[in-house]
Amino acid sequence: MNPDDPRISTSARQVQPFLAMEIFERSQELERQGIDIVHLEVGEPDFSVPACVDRAISKAVEGGHTHYTHSLGRYDLREEIASYYRRRYQVNIDPGRVLVTGGTSGALVLLMALLLEPGDEILLPNPGYACYDNFVLTFHGKPTGYEVPASTGFRYDPELIGKLVNKRSKGILINSPSNPTAAVQDHNTLEQIAALGVPVISDEIYHGLEYGGAEARAVSMLEVTDDCFVVDGFSKRHAMTGLRVGWLVAPEDLVAPLQRLQQNLFVCASSLAQTAAIAALREGEEALTAMTEQYKRRREVLYNGLLELGFPIPCKPMGAYYIFARADHLDGDSLRLAKRILEEAHVGVAPGIDFGSRAEGWLRFSFANDLESINEALQRLKKWLPRSEG
Ligand SMILES: Cc1ncc(COP(=O)(O)O)c(C=O)c1O
Repeated sequence: MNPDDPRISTSARQVQPFLAMEIFERSQELERQGIDIVHLEVGEPDFSVPACVDRAISKAVEGGHTHYTHSLGRYDLREEIASYYRRRYQVNIDPGRVLVTGGTSGALVLLMALLLEPGDEILLPNPGYACYDNFVLTFHGKPTGYEVPASTGFRYDPELIGKLVNKRSKGILINSPSNPTAAVQDHNTLEQIAALGVPVISDEIYHGLEYGGAEARAVSMLEVTDDCFVVDGFSKRHAMTGLRVGWLVAPEDLVAPLQRLQQNLFVCASSLAQTAAIAALREGEEALTAMTEQYKRRREVLYNGLLELGFPIPCKPMGAYYIFARADHLDGDSLRLAKRILEEAHVGVAPGIDFGSRAEGWLRFSFANDLESINEALQRLKKWLPRSEG
């Protein structure tokens, strides 16, 4: 891209490439050349959608249910989402506070459009999901990273966050279980963050993908306060990435302005995906448990395998499906390292730098791939490591 191209706006120019996707796209080029690649770079479940979702979509297509829906989403889906909060967190929310969106990403777009004047700040975790900064930049905001220290197992530090709060702070974004660190924050931490007096945006997309037992379960921000925004979706838990459906729970008085944004920017979320989402919430529990059991086994294999290969891992993943490992003993430049691992070992991994300056020198390995592939990736890395200095 020519940085001086006058056709490209300043905000579009600031948007950074999503490097994990670049590694993925390069790996596809290699595959077209006949090279076999093991993919541990992408944050996408390898599972197909649950059978109940599959059936619901076919039925919806046959029945011609392919039209626009209400801009806030189908009411029966919003009711299902409200009852999910009752079931899982014992929290009562009115379905009227739920907006169904085009993935969690769509919910974040609406929120940034709602909250930001040019130059306003959103506080973001560093390390954190690669796209957060870019949502903020697109809406002329200023992404301000707060450090998530590896030394405490990537626990959020409310005191550190509090020091960054100023009158331009319009939101504090939190993500538990986290991409890329896989850490889960406790109730007390969430309470302290809520007390900082800035609206909290809680990205709960990895809820349900948890491995720490009852004591380490992920807490919803809605258990702490009603005065927050919660974004969530079906992509990860229900292996529905391509269907593009998620939701946003907002304080009641902000639903109307969010609805106006949704009507104009997106009209509504996909009607087929909404049908699928209802099926996932009503009938998808068994499939979710089966997938989580598999993730648990894969986590053990990848975690032990990477430790054996000499990758320091300060925090055993408590949720999501990532292992975040230090790799600066191999190369402090994580993008160069990820590219070499792809080209030479034929394993795709995500470079730490994708997730913020504090993640440079780290690599993210995804275990959203089957055990055979994970074992193959470990074998390939084992063979490659002695050559890694050459
Ligand atoms: C932390 C986090 N939030 C949001 C998203 C986007 O999810 P969706 O597919 O619901 O738009 C991702 C996708 O990787 C993610 O990791």
